[in-house]
Amino acid sequence: MQRRKDLNRREFLHQAATAAGATLLTAGVGPKLWAQVAGANERVNIGVIGCGGMGNSHISTLLKLREEGLVNIVAVCDVYTKRLDRAAARTGAKPYRDYRRLLEDPEVDAVLIATPDHWHAPMTIAAADAGKDVYCEKPMTYWKDLREPQEVVRAIARNQRVMQVGTQGMSDSIWEQVAERIQAGALGTLIHAQASDCRNGYIALYDPTRTDPDLKPGETLDWDLWLGPAPKRPFEPGRYLSFRVFWDYSGGVGTDFFPHLLTPLVQAMGLTFPKRVTASGGLYYYHDGREVPDIFSLVIEYPQGPSVLLLGGVANDTGLPIQIRGQQATLTIGGPGAVVDPQRAVNKEGQREEIARTRRASLAEHWKDFLQSVKTREKPRSHEVLGYYVMTALHMGITSYLTGRTLEFDPQTEQTRPV
Ligand SMILES: NC(=O)c1ccc[n+]([C@@H]2O[C@H](COP(=O)([O-])OP(=O)(O)OC[C@H]3O[C@@H](n4cnc5c(N)ncnc54)[C@H](O)[C@@H]3O)[C@@H](O)[C@H]2O)c1
Repeated sequence: MQRRKDLNRREFLHQAATAAGATLLTAGVGPKLWAQVAGANERVNIGVIGCGGMGNSHISTLLKLREEGLVNIVAVCDVYTKRLDRAAARTGAKPYRDYRRLLEDPEVDAVLIATPDHWHAPMTIAAADAGKDVYCEKPMTYWKDLREPQEVVRAIARNQRVMQVGTQGMSDSIWEQVAERIQAGALGTLIHAQASDCRNGYIALYDPTRTDPDLKPGETLDWDLWLGPAPKRPFEPGRYLSFRVFWDYSGGVGTDFFPHLLTPLVQAMGLTFPKRVTASGGLYYYHDGREVPDIFSLVIEYPQGPSVLLLGGVANDTGLPIQIRGQQATLTIGGPGAVVDPQRAVNKEGQREEIARTRRASLAEHWKDFLQSVKTREKPRSHEVLGYYVMTALHMGITSYLTGRTLEFDPQTEQTRPV
């Protein structure tokens, strides 16, 4: 399994530097440059790996994009036959029970990975090594091991592939518009930013007591292949159906909600690796066998600023406005776009500025961005290097929560350590 493999650090740093620098804007001319294998107007052949809740949302979008002449859905894969059969019936695509066979299929140009988090890195790396471009659901990788995002960046660079991470909010134009205003100096020195995703009420995906009588390991379900790189355990329906509440497969809201919050902030503010990350939170309400907290917050400090506060939870739905605070003005996201309010103490002449978004985010928009990149070989909006920056902060945050220590990142070695 790739996750356990030791990195050749020098080689990785070279690859990562190339990925983060020279090829940040273009993925380079790969061995299977799209123009060489198909005309620019031809459809991209997609293989779907993981046909559960999110996989089916993607299939709905892909069916529409198929009608628009942009894709074919040529293969579907799941380890649960009920879901595999349904996906094959919905799409007419070839069914596979083992993703490795799907990756050998020469008809597949690009894959969607919509399996639980612990499979994201191994499948992305295998897909890139098989010459496929990758749209992988967020979080880009499982939270526990920082080598996973490092190896993903390396595999994408090594194979000159295109990767989109499934933070579809990145296809909201407001983030590009905010980035332009920040670069133009509208906020002055960046001081602080905040975002939240706070929910309340029953969330089935967080209920570890759920069951499905059709789940029969050895018959309808390949449990070993579901577990894959995760610790070996006997089958439990709650682990299968609500993997989000178990540390072996997920970081809870820290990896379920926070990639959506942090990725656009990192991009809009031009940030990269954090300097220090501190977490807090707890499991105060749900005593149903879950492991992950029901309230979780992170303070992420970037070198020379700003610091970023993220708040998420499932037991109270009072959130925070999304705000970016500069020394000259504060920007608030909301309504038709964003508003910039001058800081009166230092910016007496400044005028309030309203920014209206020009494009709404959707799965279809995010797919179209990816499909364009498959053809142009340019980096899509939520590419893997950005994903590495985000996963570094989230890895440090969840580790901080579990150890009670603040974590620090060393940019020279790309390693973390407790402060
Ligand atoms: N972008 C978003 O807004 C969004 C929303 C929901 C979920 N997600 C992400 O999508 C991913 C899946 O979440 P979900 O709610 O759809 O989970 P799910 O459990 O409903 O679906 C996952 C599917 O993957 C299958 N699977 C597991 N291991 C497999 C393997 N080795 N080979 C083939 N199939 C395998 C499972 O059988 C299951 O059908 C998660 O990483 C989640 O974070 C993203």
